[in-house]
Amino acid sequence: MSTKLIAPSLLAADFANLQRDIEMVNQSDADWFHIDIMDGVFVPNISFGMPVLAAISKHTKKTLDVHLMIVDPDRYIKTFADLGSDILTVHYEACPHLHRTLQAIKAEGMKAGVSLNPHTSINLLEDTINDIDLVLIMSVNPGFGGQSFIENTYTKVKQLKELITRKGASTIIEIDGGVTTKNAKALADAGADVLVAGSFVFKSNNQLETIKELRAVANS
Ligand code: DX5
Ligand code: ZN
Repeated sequence: MSTKLIAPSLLAADFANLQRDIEMVNQSDADWFHIDIMDGVFVPNISFGMPVLAAISKHTKKTLDVHLMIVDPDRYIKTFADLGSDILTVHYEACPHLHRTLQAIKAEGMKAGVSLNPHTSINLLEDTINDIDLVLIMSVNPGFGGQSFIENTYTKVKQLKELITRKGASTIIEIDGGVTTKNAKALADAGADVLVAGSFVFKSNNQLETIKELRAVANS
């Protein structure tokens, strides 16, 4: 992929004005909507669930990039497909039968993503990379927005890029957590294709301008 994409994370939106914030993303230069689903078990936080995703889905035509931070995600693959998810990302650490899970996601017509926690090695994807459409590298510990970017992420992006090239895979690389205009270019240069940004976008004074700026920096 040549153009680097931006995926605002709705986790940082104002939930009392969700439609307004969805419209803002609709009108912006953002490429995808990043939707964080947390179950309070896999991560120490609960975000939102199916009814909220259904509402978002109804109000946008942008790609719905759903990041499941839940245990046993296989239980809900069909549900998330029915809710309009285009990409469904599960955590490596939550999937004892990852290959089967990836097949089940694709069978529902979605792109299959795998996310790695900061402590999880890229090497563990050696045998599945050709079956993965997207790898989501967590650049913070999952569960909360607004945390500081972990610098070791650059090394992981380079390792993943090397693995993808060596295996002849077409997997794209997404980064999630602490993304700002300060690290966007270095991430893009290391090989990232998609940058998720929550707080940096939604806590800014001019959200449309911030999305535009982030996209420009990533593609500079
Ligand atoms: C964290 C989530 C992220 C989060 C990113 O567990 O997966 O998508 O919303 O938020 P920021 O950009 O604020 O770090
Ligand atoms: Zn996320």
